[in-house]
Amino acid sequence: MAQNPTDDSSRRVSTSDDIEVGTYLEIAQADRTTGGNPPIDERMKTIVIIDFGSQYSRLIARRIREANTYCEIVSHDAGREILDEQDVIGVILSGGPNSVYEDDAPMAPTWVYEAGVPVLGICYGMQLIAHQLGGKVERGIEREYGHAVVHKDGQDNILFDGLDNEVPVWMSHGDRIEQLPPGFRSMAYTENSPLAVMGNEEGTYFGIQFHPEVAHTPQGAEILRNFLFGVCKAAGDWTPKNFVSDAIERIKERVGDGKVICALSGGVDSTVAAALIHRAIGDRLTCIFVDNGLMRKGEADRVQNVFASQLGVNLIFVDATERFLNALKGVTDPEVKRKSIGAEFIKIFEEAAIEIGEVDYLAQGTLYPDVIESTSADSTASHKIKTHHNVGGLPEHMDLKLVEPLRYMFKDEVRKAGAELGLTPQSVNRQPFPGPGLAIRIMGEVTFEKLEILREVDWIVIDEIKNDGLYDSLWQSFAVLTNTRTVGVMGDQRTYQYVTAIRAVTSADAMTADWARLPYDTLARISSRIVNEVDEVNRVVLDITSKPPGTIEWE
Ligand code: XMP
Repeated sequence: MAQNPTDDSSRRVSTSDDIEVGTYLEIAQADRTTGGNPPIDERMKTIVIIDFGSQYSRLIARRIREANTYCEIVSHDAGREILDEQDVIGVILSGGPNSVYEDDAPMAPTWVYEAGVPVLGICYGMQLIAHQLGGKVERGIEREYGHAVVHKDGQDNILFDGLDNEVPVWMSHGDRIEQLPPGFRSMAYTENSPLAVMGNEEGTYFGIQFHPEVAHTPQGAEILRNFLFGVCKAAGDWTPKNFVSDAIERIKERVGDGKVICALSGGVDSTVAAALIHRAIGDRLTCIFVDNGLMRKGEADRVQNVFASQLGVNLIFVDATERFLNALKGVTDPEVKRKSIGAEFIKIFEEAAIEIGEVDYLAQGTLYPDVIESTSADSTASHKIKTHHNVGGLPEHMDLKLVEPLRYMFKDEVRKAGAELGLTPQSVNRQPFPGPGLAIRIMGEVTFEKLEILREVDWIVIDEIKNDGLYDSLWQSFAVLTNTRTVGVMGDQRTYQYVTAIRAVTSADAMTADWARLPYDTLARISSRIVNEVDEVNRVVLDITSKPPGTIEWE
């Protein structure tokens, strides 16, 4: 029997929710205490990463979280408040595009050096330590870029504990340290950098010229771990169990006796956010699920089942298929489709919310990468937090405060939190699905008939991809219903039916994507099942376009 294609797992797309459309909700400066949840009483052992505009800052944070250690990224001009808010056990100064000797080069704030905690400077961060503590940095004769081999210089070097004498690393710098600051010594070198690693006598300040956070430095995670556990004495206790309990504490603190509403999309983020809030405040949470009729086969039932039956959450389920179909009548332009769907959703959501009566908070699935983006190195930039398009605009109108339980988590931590909360792999490991749903996978006007055809075709695509164990390795895989009919032959009968396309892509972040090289046998089974099982389709084509120049969705 065919396995339920909505069962089990994969990886994911957008950072803020499965449903995300690129509308933005302007939020006042994403201040740690006013924009999000207040700090909790119990301060977390925290590594602070100071961002100097490196493309890799987020990667440093990822590596540290992977080492079960809590960390936060702050801008180079952030104040010292974090020292009061968290139990800061170490600071990492990131790389950056500037030269420390330029007039307007960003410096590490003085509190970093006054905090009495270990400091690790990476690339630009290393040069900053040298520059700010009395050493000398100059433009190198040659830029060092790419692979290099670091040699330990024979002395004890805690950062390299457990590593070989020669360590392959990734370099990317033009400047070099000409003179060490007082009290520092060289700890390792490369062919081109006599000072590839430096450290102070006390063993508390370190600088490394290469990038330990990138995959091209294969033992980089080990070097960072040595800093975390050997130098900062991190406890390694940022585990799913702990980040779930941390999130629950923060929710309780933020919401108090208030009431929360949460729009469910069926995606990972809103599911985990709702499950966390439910754990924290029980029946004072009400979830609203609007079935827009544009979902995949079985999806609306699945969401209802997970929330109402498995989790026992107060759920308002609105069957709004008719309303969305009416709103989409005669609409063929992709952007008009999106707008009509968004507007209809907001109306329905508001109507449903009125039923609940007094409400104080709206739950939003903002993830940590969204927060980082909003407080990035350019602190003068307006702070925008990407939001679930379906709830965009609601808070101002309904005068709700936000509760953002995933605000301190990366995507994979959200999945782990979901598993820790007892959600099934089916709920926490899902490919992303666009907010406007199948409407943007049906070319031309959306009708109930076409939706039903696409639901059947999509089911077969996902089913075969799962049967062949490919689902997890694909960013997204789905079917598109074109507006074209072609001639075919079935038995003695001539047919004139729809062309459907298979779209499967690999991607890291949906910004770029490549078409997946699905095995011919998988494609053959998909094609044959579609034309045999779905009467209205007699031809299957494969989309072999990367992004750019194509997009993942067809509309
Ligand atoms: P494109 O098609 O732009 O898609 O390459 C990139 C990612 O975004 C999803 N997507 C959307 N998600 N509302 C959404 O919530 C939309 O209007 C929308 N358009 C595209 C798409 O599925 C992919 O993951």
